[in-house]
Amino acid sequence: MTTKKRLLSGMQPTGGGRLHLGNLEGALRPWVQLQDQYEMFCFIADWHSLTTVAEQQMDIAEASRQTAMDYLAAGLDPDKCAIFRQSDVKEHAELHLLLSMVTPVGWLERVPTYKDKRDLVRENELQVSYGLLGYPVLQTADIIVYRAHLVPVGKDQEAHLEISRDIARRFNRLTGEDIFPEPEGLISETTGELPGTDGRKMSKSYGNAIYLSDTPKQTQKKINSAFTTPTKIHITDPGIPEGCAACRLRRIYDPDGYRTQWDECRAGLRGCGQSKKELAEIINATLEPIRARRAELEADPPFVDQVLKQGAERARAAAAETLTLVRRALKL
Ligand code: ADP
Ligand code: TRP
Repeated sequence: MTTKKRLLSGMQPTGGGRLHLGNLEGALRPWVQLQDQYEMFCFIADWHSLTTVAEQQMDIAEASRQTAMDYLAAGLDPDKCAIFRQSDVKEHAELHLLLSMVTPVGWLERVPTYKDKRDLVRENELQVSYGLLGYPVLQTADIIVYRAHLVPVGKDQEAHLEISRDIARRFNRLTGEDIFPEPEGLISETTGELPGTDGRKMSKSYGNAIYLSDTPKQTQKKINSAFTTPTKIHITDPGIPEGCAACRLRRIYDPDGYRTQWDECRAGLRGCGQSKKELAEIINATLEPIRARRAELEADPPFVDQVLKQGAERARAAAAETLTLVRRALKL
Protein backbone atom coordinates (compact mmCIF):
# COMPACT_ATOMS: atom_id res chain seq x y z
CA MET A 1 0.00 0.00 0.00
CA THR A 2 1.49 3.29 -1.10
CA THR A 3 1.37 6.34 1.17
CA LYS A 4 2.22 8.83 -1.56
CA LYS A 5 -0.37 11.50 -2.32
CA ARG A 6 -2.29 11.04 -5.54
CA LEU A 7 -1.93 13.38 -8.41
CA LEU A 8 -3.85 13.37 -11.67
CA SER A 9 -3.81 15.37 -14.85
CA GLY A 10 -4.72 15.10 -18.50
CA MET A 11 -4.96 16.83 -21.84
CA GLN A 12 -7.38 16.62 -24.72
CA PRO A 13 -6.04 15.09 -27.95
CA THR A 14 -7.50 17.94 -30.01
CA GLY A 15 -6.15 19.15 -33.35
CA GLY A 16 -4.55 15.79 -34.16
CA GLY A 17 -3.21 15.24 -30.65
CA ARG A 18 0.30 16.64 -31.09
CA LEU A 19 1.44 18.81 -28.19
CA HIS A 20 3.19 22.18 -28.36
CA LEU A 21 5.62 24.24 -26.29
CA GLY A 22 2.78 25.75 -24.23
CA ASN A 23 1.56 22.27 -23.26
CA LEU A 24 5.16 21.27 -22.52
CA GLU A 25 6.03 24.18 -20.24
CA GLY A 26 2.59 24.70 -18.73
CA ALA A 27 1.79 21.08 -18.00
CA LEU A 28 4.05 18.28 -19.21
CA ARG A 29 7.36 19.38 -17.67
CA PRO A 30 5.77 19.94 -14.28
CA TRP A 31 4.23 16.45 -14.52
CA VAL A 32 7.59 14.88 -15.27
CA GLN A 33 9.12 16.59 -12.25
CA LEU A 34 6.33 15.40 -9.97
CA GLN A 35 6.26 11.74 -10.95
CA ASP A 36 8.84 10.65 -8.36
CA GLN A 37 7.08 12.30 -5.48
CA TYR A 38 3.47 11.29 -6.11
CA GLU A 39 1.35 8.37 -7.16
CA MET A 40 0.52 9.72 -10.54
CA PHE A 41 -2.17 9.28 -13.20
CA CYS A 42 -1.79 11.06 -16.55
CA PHE A 43 -4.53 10.47 -19.06
CA ILE A 44 -5.68 11.49 -22.52
CA ALA A 45 -9.11 13.12 -22.39
CA ASP A 46 -10.47 11.70 -25.64
CA TRP A 47 -14.14 11.93 -24.58
CA HIS A 48 -13.66 15.59 -23.70
CA SER A 49 -12.37 16.31 -27.18
CA LEU A 50 -15.76 15.20 -28.57
CA THR A 51 -17.33 18.33 -27.07
CA THR A 52 -15.92 20.14 -30.12
CA VAL A 53 -17.85 19.44 -33.31
CA ALA A 54 -14.71 19.56 -35.48
CA GLU A 55 -13.12 16.83 -33.38
CA GLN A 56 -16.05 14.51 -33.92
CA GLN A 57 -14.82 14.13 -37.50
CA MET A 58 -11.21 13.39 -36.50
CA ASP A 59 -9.45 10.07 -35.95
CA ILE A 60 -9.49 10.34 -32.16
CA ALA A 61 -7.68 7.03 -31.61
CA GLU A 62 -4.76 8.19 -33.75
CA ALA A 63 -4.76 11.62 -32.10
CA SER A 64 -4.65 9.95 -28.67
CA ARG A 65 -1.62 7.90 -29.73
CA GLN A 66 0.12 11.12 -30.80
CA THR A 67 -0.56 12.67 -27.39
CA ALA A 68 0.69 9.51 -25.66
CA MET A 69 3.94 9.66 -27.65
CA ASP A 70 4.46 13.29 -26.60
CA TYR A 71 3.83 12.36 -22.95
CA LEU A 72 6.45 9.63 -23.17
CA ALA A 73 8.91 11.65 -25.24
CA ALA A 74 8.79 14.48 -22.70
CA GLY A 75 9.84 12.04 -20.00
CA LEU A 76 6.74 10.57 -18.36
CA ASP A 77 7.79 7.14 -17.17
CA PRO A 78 5.09 4.45 -17.47
CA ASP A 79 6.62 2.60 -14.51
CA LYS A 80 6.03 5.61 -12.25
CA CYS A 81 2.89 7.05 -13.77
CA ALA A 82 -0.24 5.39 -15.20
CA ILE A 83 -0.65 6.71 -18.76
CA PHE A 84 -4.04 5.89 -20.28
CA ARG A 85 -6.99 6.94 -22.41
CA GLN A 86 -10.08 8.23 -20.62
CA SER A 87 -12.34 6.08 -22.84
CA ASP A 88 -10.54 2.93 -21.65
CA VAL A 89 -11.73 3.49 -18.07
CA LYS A 90 -15.53 3.42 -18.11
CA GLU A 91 -15.69 4.31 -14.41
CA HIS A 92 -15.14 7.96 -15.46
CA ALA A 93 -18.45 7.79 -17.35
CA GLU A 94 -20.40 6.18 -14.52
CA LEU A 95 -19.15 8.72 -12.00
CA HIS A 96 -19.86 11.53 -14.47
CA LEU A 97 -23.47 10.36 -14.66
CA LEU A 98 -23.85 10.20 -10.89
CA LEU A 99 -22.20 13.58 -10.32
CA SER A 100 -24.48 15.10 -12.95
CA MET A 101 -27.39 14.29 -10.60
CA VAL A 102 -26.00 16.52 -7.86
CA THR A 103 -24.58 19.37 -9.96
CA PRO A 104 -26.79 22.46 -10.35
CA VAL A 105 -27.07 23.62 -13.97
CA GLY A 106 -26.57 27.22 -12.77
CA TRP A 107 -23.05 26.38 -11.62
CA LEU A 108 -22.16 25.05 -15.05
CA GLU A 109 -23.67 28.00 -16.90
CA ARG A 110 -21.39 30.36 -14.96
CA VAL A 111 -18.10 28.64 -15.89
CA PRO A 112 -16.12 31.15 -18.01
CA THR A 113 -14.72 28.55 -20.43
CA TYR A 114 -18.28 27.33 -21.06
CA LYS A 115 -19.53 30.85 -21.77
CA ASP A 116 -16.71 31.45 -24.27
CA LYS A 117 -17.25 28.16 -26.06
CA ARG A 118 -21.03 28.55 -26.06
CA ASP A 119 -20.73 31.98 -27.71
CA LEU A 120 -18.36 30.58 -30.31
CA VAL A 121 -20.74 27.71 -31.10
CA ARG A 122 -23.65 30.14 -31.47
CA GLU A 123 -21.64 32.50 -33.69
CA ASN A 124 -21.17 29.55 -36.02
CA GLU A 125 -24.91 28.90 -35.90
CA LEU A 126 -24.47 25.50 -34.28
CA GLN A 127 -26.32 24.02 -31.29
CA VAL A 128 -24.76 23.97 -27.84
CA SER A 129 -24.54 20.34 -26.72
CA TYR A 130 -25.41 18.92 -23.34
CA GLY A 131 -21.86 17.50 -23.27
CA LEU A 132 -20.31 20.95 -23.61
CA LEU A 133 -22.28 22.24 -20.63
CA GLY A 134 -21.28 19.14 -18.68
CA TYR A 135 -17.57 19.38 -19.57
CA PRO A 136 -16.56 20.34 -16.00
CA VAL A 137 -18.66 17.49 -14.53
CA LEU A 138 -16.73 14.97 -16.62
CA GLN A 139 -13.49 16.71 -15.66
CA THR A 140 -14.49 16.42 -12.00
CA ALA A 141 -15.21 12.72 -12.45
CA ASP A 142 -11.76 12.29 -14.07
CA ILE A 143 -10.13 13.72 -10.99
CA ILE A 144 -12.16 12.43 -8.08
CA VAL A 145 -12.63 8.91 -9.43
CA TYR A 146 -8.99 8.52 -8.25
CA ARG A 147 -9.66 10.55 -5.10
CA ALA A 148 -6.72 12.66 -6.30
CA HIS A 149 -5.44 15.43 -4.04
CA LEU A 150 -3.51 17.46 -6.59
CA VAL A 151 -4.06 18.44 -10.21
CA PRO A 152 -1.12 20.08 -12.00
CA VAL A 153 -2.45 22.23 -14.87
CA GLY A 154 -1.97 25.59 -16.53
CA LYS A 155 -3.60 28.76 -15.24
CA ASP A 156 -6.52 28.50 -17.69
CA GLN A 157 -7.85 25.47 -15.78
CA GLU A 158 -8.35 27.26 -12.46
CA ALA A 159 -12.10 27.80 -12.96
CA HIS A 160 -12.59 24.11 -13.76
CA LEU A 161 -10.84 23.09 -10.56
CA GLU A 162 -12.95 25.42 -8.52
CA ILE A 163 -16.15 23.78 -9.71
CA SER A 164 -14.57 20.35 -9.17
CA ARG A 165 -14.06 21.23 -5.52
CA ASP A 166 -17.64 22.47 -5.28
CA ILE A 167 -19.03 19.26 -6.79
CA ALA A 168 -16.85 17.02 -4.58
CA ARG A 169 -17.91 18.94 -1.47
CA ARG A 170 -21.58 18.80 -2.45
CA PHE A 171 -21.45 15.04 -3.05
CA ASN A 172 -19.82 14.49 0.35
CA ARG A 173 -22.39 16.68 2.06
CA LEU A 174 -25.43 15.17 0.34
CA THR A 175 -24.38 11.59 1.06
CA GLY A 176 -22.97 12.32 4.51
CA GLU A 177 -19.84 10.39 3.54
CA ASP A 178 -16.34 11.74 3.22
CA ILE A 179 -15.41 9.91 0.04
CA PHE A 180 -13.76 12.65 -1.98
CA PRO A 181 -10.87 14.92 -1.05
CA GLU A 182 -11.29 18.40 -2.55
CA PRO A 183 -8.74 18.50 -5.37
CA GLU A 184 -6.23 21.33 -5.29
CA GLY A 185 -4.69 22.81 -8.41
CA LEU A 186 -0.94 22.92 -8.77
CA ILE A 187 -0.78 25.83 -11.15
CA SER A 188 2.38 26.23 -13.17
CA GLU A 189 3.52 29.81 -12.64
CA THR A 190 6.99 29.41 -14.16
CA THR A 191 6.06 30.63 -17.59
CA GLY A 192 2.51 31.85 -17.13
CA GLU A 193 1.03 31.72 -20.57
CA LEU A 194 3.63 30.83 -23.11
CA PRO A 195 3.14 32.96 -26.23
CA GLY A 196 2.65 31.59 -29.73
CA THR A 197 4.33 32.98 -32.82
CA ASP A 198 1.59 35.63 -33.20
CA GLY A 199 1.98 36.87 -29.61
CA ARG A 200 -1.31 35.40 -28.37
CA LYS A 201 -1.34 32.41 -26.01
CA MET A 202 0.16 29.43 -27.82
CA SER A 203 -2.73 27.11 -28.67
CA LYS A 204 -3.52 24.26 -31.01
CA SER A 205 -6.54 26.22 -32.17
CA TYR A 206 -4.78 29.49 -33.11
CA GLY A 207 -2.35 28.18 -35.73
CA ASN A 208 0.49 29.81 -33.74
CA ALA A 209 2.04 26.71 -32.14
CA ILE A 210 5.46 25.13 -32.30
CA TYR A 211 4.97 21.39 -31.85
CA LEU A 212 7.31 19.00 -30.06
CA SER A 213 7.06 16.87 -33.21
CA ASP A 214 8.00 19.70 -35.63
CA THR A 215 11.35 19.30 -37.36
CA PRO A 216 14.14 21.82 -36.62
CA LYS A 217 13.51 23.30 -40.08
CA GLN A 218 9.76 23.73 -39.48
CA THR A 219 10.60 25.33 -36.12
CA GLN A 220 13.01 27.81 -37.73
CA LYS A 221 10.39 28.65 -40.36
CA LYS A 222 7.66 29.28 -37.78
CA ILE A 223 9.98 31.45 -35.69
CA ASN A 224 11.00 33.42 -38.79
CA SER A 225 7.36 34.35 -39.25
CA ALA A 226 6.88 35.33 -35.58
CA PHE A 227 5.38 38.65 -34.58
CA THR A 228 8.01 41.22 -33.54
CA THR A 229 7.98 45.02 -33.03
CA PRO A 230 6.00 46.38 -36.03
CA THR A 231 7.99 49.66 -36.05
CA LYS A 232 11.36 47.88 -36.06
CA ILE A 233 12.10 47.73 -39.76
CA HIS A 234 15.84 48.42 -39.85
CA ILE A 235 18.41 46.88 -37.52
CA THR A 236 18.98 50.29 -35.93
CA ASP A 237 15.29 50.85 -35.11
CA PRO A 238 14.59 50.29 -31.40
CA GLY A 239 12.53 47.19 -30.53
CA ILE A 240 10.06 46.63 -27.69
CA PRO A 241 10.92 43.14 -26.37
CA GLU A 242 7.96 42.96 -23.95
CA GLY A 243 5.60 43.15 -26.93
CA CYS A 244 7.55 40.82 -29.23
CA ALA A 245 6.66 37.12 -29.44
CA ALA A 246 10.23 36.10 -30.30
CA CYS A 247 11.74 38.07 -27.40
CA ARG A 248 9.20 36.70 -24.93
CA LEU A 249 10.02 33.17 -26.02
CA ARG A 250 13.73 33.97 -25.66
CA ARG A 251 13.19 35.01 -22.05
CA ILE A 252 11.59 31.63 -21.33
CA TYR A 253 14.15 29.51 -23.15
CA ASP A 254 17.27 31.52 -22.36
CA PRO A 255 16.69 32.82 -18.81
CA ASP A 256 20.38 33.58 -18.29
CA GLY A 257 21.20 35.17 -21.61
CA TYR A 258 18.03 36.95 -22.71
CA ARG A 259 18.82 40.30 -21.01
CA THR A 260 21.70 41.07 -23.34
CA GLN A 261 19.53 40.23 -26.36
CA TRP A 262 16.68 42.41 -25.05
CA ASP A 263 19.07 45.33 -24.32
CA GLU A 264 20.63 45.11 -27.79
CA CYS A 265 17.18 44.90 -29.39
CA ARG A 266 15.99 48.00 -27.49
CA ALA A 267 19.14 49.89 -28.42
CA GLY A 268 18.83 49.05 -32.13
CA LEU A 269 22.08 47.08 -32.01
CA ARG A 270 20.61 43.92 -33.51
CA GLY A 271 18.00 42.92 -36.05
CA CYS A 272 15.00 40.62 -35.66
CA GLY A 273 16.51 38.18 -38.19
CA GLN A 274 19.51 37.50 -35.97
CA SER A 275 17.33 37.22 -32.86
CA LYS A 276 15.01 34.74 -34.57
CA LYS A 277 17.88 32.61 -35.84
CA GLU A 278 19.32 32.39 -32.33
CA LEU A 279 15.91 31.66 -30.80
CA ALA A 280 15.30 28.77 -33.22
CA GLU A 281 18.72 27.34 -32.34
CA ILE A 282 17.95 27.55 -28.61
CA ILE A 283 14.50 25.98 -28.96
CA ASN A 284 15.77 23.26 -31.31
CA ALA A 285 18.52 22.39 -28.82
CA THR A 286 15.93 22.18 -26.01
CA LEU A 287 13.67 19.93 -28.06
CA GLU A 288 16.43 17.70 -29.41
CA PRO A 289 16.24 14.94 -26.74
CA ILE A 290 12.43 14.96 -26.84
CA ARG A 291 12.44 14.59 -30.62
CA ALA A 292 14.99 11.77 -30.51
CA ARG A 293 12.86 9.85 -28.03
CA ARG A 294 9.74 10.54 -30.09
CA ALA A 295 11.37 9.12 -33.20
CA GLU A 296 12.06 5.88 -31.29
CA LEU A 297 8.43 5.71 -30.15
CA GLU A 298 7.10 6.34 -33.66
CA ALA A 299 9.09 3.33 -34.79
CA ASP A 300 7.60 1.13 -32.04
CA PRO A 301 3.76 1.35 -32.08
CA PRO A 302 3.30 -1.90 -30.06
CA PHE A 303 5.24 -0.34 -27.17
CA VAL A 304 2.94 2.70 -27.10
CA ASP A 305 -0.15 0.45 -27.23
CA GLN A 306 1.24 -1.63 -24.38
CA VAL A 307 1.86 1.46 -22.24
CA LEU A 308 -1.77 2.58 -22.75
CA LYS A 309 -3.10 -0.89 -21.98
CA GLN A 310 -1.13 -1.28 -18.76
CA GLY A 311 -1.93 2.29 -17.72
CA ALA A 312 -5.65 1.63 -18.18
CA GLU A 313 -5.46 -1.53 -16.08
CA ARG A 314 -3.86 0.34 -13.19
CA ALA A 315 -6.29 3.21 -13.50
CA ARG A 316 -9.31 0.89 -13.66
CA ALA A 317 -8.31 -0.88 -10.47
CA ALA A 318 -8.07 2.42 -8.58
CA ALA A 319 -11.27 3.83 -10.10
CA ALA A 320 -13.28 0.67 -9.37
CA GLU A 321 -12.53 0.99 -5.64
CA THR A 322 -13.99 4.50 -5.62
CA LEU A 323 -17.10 3.46 -7.54
CA THR A 324 -17.81 0.74 -4.96
CA LEU A 325 -17.85 3.43 -2.25
CA VAL A 326 -19.94 5.78 -4.39
CA ARG A 327 -22.60 3.17 -5.22
CA ARG A 328 -22.82 2.25 -1.56
CA ALA A 329 -23.15 5.91 -0.52
CA LEU A 330 -26.02 6.34 -2.98
CA LYS A 331 -27.60 3.04 -1.88
CA LEU A 332 -27.46 1.68 -5.41
P1 ADP B 1 -4.64 24.14 -26.44
O1 ADP B 1 -5.00 25.56 -26.11
O2 ADP B 1 -3.46 24.07 -27.30
O3 ADP B 1 -5.81 23.35 -26.97
P2 ADP B 1 -5.16 22.77 -23.98
O4 ADP B 1 -6.25 23.72 -23.63
O5 ADP B 1 -5.50 21.41 -24.45
O6 ADP B 1 -4.21 23.48 -25.06
O7 ADP B 1 -4.20 22.68 -22.71
C1 ADP B 1 -3.58 21.50 -22.21
C2 ADP B 1 -2.71 21.86 -21.02
O8 ADP B 1 -1.62 22.70 -21.43
C3 ADP B 1 -3.46 22.65 -19.93
O9 ADP B 1 -2.98 22.24 -18.66
C4 ADP B 1 -3.08 24.09 -20.22
O10 ADP B 1 -3.13 24.89 -19.06
C5 ADP B 1 -1.66 23.96 -20.75
N1 ADP B 1 -1.39 25.02 -21.75
C6 ADP B 1 -1.96 25.12 -22.97
N2 ADP B 1 -1.48 26.19 -23.65
C7 ADP B 1 -0.58 26.78 -22.83
C8 ADP B 1 0.28 27.93 -22.95
N3 ADP B 1 0.30 28.66 -24.06
N4 ADP B 1 1.07 28.24 -21.91
C9 ADP B 1 1.07 27.49 -20.78
N5 ADP B 1 0.31 26.40 -20.61
C10 ADP B 1 -0.51 26.03 -21.59
N1 TRP C 1 -9.82 20.49 -19.46
C1 TRP C 1 -8.43 20.07 -19.52
C2 TRP C 1 -7.72 20.88 -20.63
O1 TRP C 1 -8.36 21.39 -21.52
C3 TRP C 1 -8.30 18.61 -19.85
C4 TRP C 1 -8.80 17.74 -18.74
C5 TRP C 1 -9.90 16.92 -18.78
C6 TRP C 1 -8.24 17.63 -17.44
N2 TRP C 1 -10.04 16.29 -17.59
C7 TRP C 1 -9.05 16.69 -16.75
C8 TRP C 1 -7.15 18.21 -16.81
C9 TRP C 1 -8.80 16.36 -15.41
C10 TRP C 1 -6.89 17.86 -15.46
C11 TRP C 1 -7.70 16.96 -14.79
O2 TRP C 1 -6.52 20.96 -20.60
